Amino acid sequence: MPPTETNTRRPIGVFDSGIGGLSVLQALRAEMPQECFIYWSDSAFAPYGERSDAFLIERSHFITEQLIAKENIKAVVVACNTATAVAIESLRHKFPALPFVGVEPALKPAIGSTHTGRVGVMGTHSTLQSIRFEKLLKTVQTEAAPRPCEFVIQACRGLALAIEKQTEKPQTETFEVERLCLKYLQEMGPFGKQVGEIDTLVLGCTHYVFVEDLLKKIVGPDVHIISTGQAVAKQTHRLSVSANQSVEASELVLLPDHKAIQLWTTGSLSALAHAADRWLNLPPSCCHFIEAAPL
Ligand code: DGL
Repeated sequence: MPPTETNTRRPIGVFDSGIGGLSVLQALRAEMPQECFIYWSDSAFAPYGERSDAFLIERSHFITEQLIAKENIKAVVVACNTATAVAIESLRHKFPALPFVGVEPALKPAIGSTHTGRVGVMGTHSTLQSIRFEKLLKTVQTEAAPRPCEFVIQACRGLALAIEKQTEKPQTETFEVERLCLKYLQEMGPFGKQVGEIDTLVLGCTHYVFVEDLLKKIVGPDVHIISTGQAVAKQTHRLSVSANQSVEASELVLLPDHKAIQLWTTGSLSALAHAADRWLNLPPSCCHFIEAAPL
């Protein structure tokens, strides 16, 4: 890409099956306040965690093509563990000129954090079943040796969708989300800092970040909860700095939120507007409906 101010202002595309990736967008915005972002919430097809690999690859390609055609994006953040696990390699192959940053369960930081040697990992079925996750697990376990670490892996069916649905309801209506969190954490437990207990919990799905307080309440104050938003934002920053821009992003005038950020959804516009207000403090004018398109 030729180095011009226009390039610096080209937006970064961010996508997820729904609102979960807003937790990553939050971190991106904090890390790079001068950048512009287009966020694609693919709610018409959520949850991704129970979709086939072929579907996720096709969908990820389609979204990327649309972001390029409509907004000439300069990079893509795949703000979804599931889509990263299944589709990021094929995305890099299909769009070799476009930088991609993905998210994956933070197993390496978890090894550094645990004292009991037991780490819990929550994620979607597709992420935890993927070849990419299996490889990550093997690499991390090899690197951790001779201090072995046991990973307690929990596929949390229905949790991302329950979080998605909860957004549309009053903030007090959290029954289904609470029920699922309790059920899955009980299956993984016990949690704490004694021998044999899980003292580190990895959030391997971007939706789960929005229920971190609830998870903390259940597992207790001794458990360290790890998510990936900040690390992904830092990696995206490094990448956009190295993208040969003549105008440093930091030299640009800050744009107001409604100009710097556009949120698109293939699903319910009011649900997106609720989430945008609740978690990012963004006005409804940032939110737009986008055709889900033929598949
Ligand atoms: N937020 C996504 C993830 O990080 C997808 C959840 C889903 O749609 O199942 O895995």
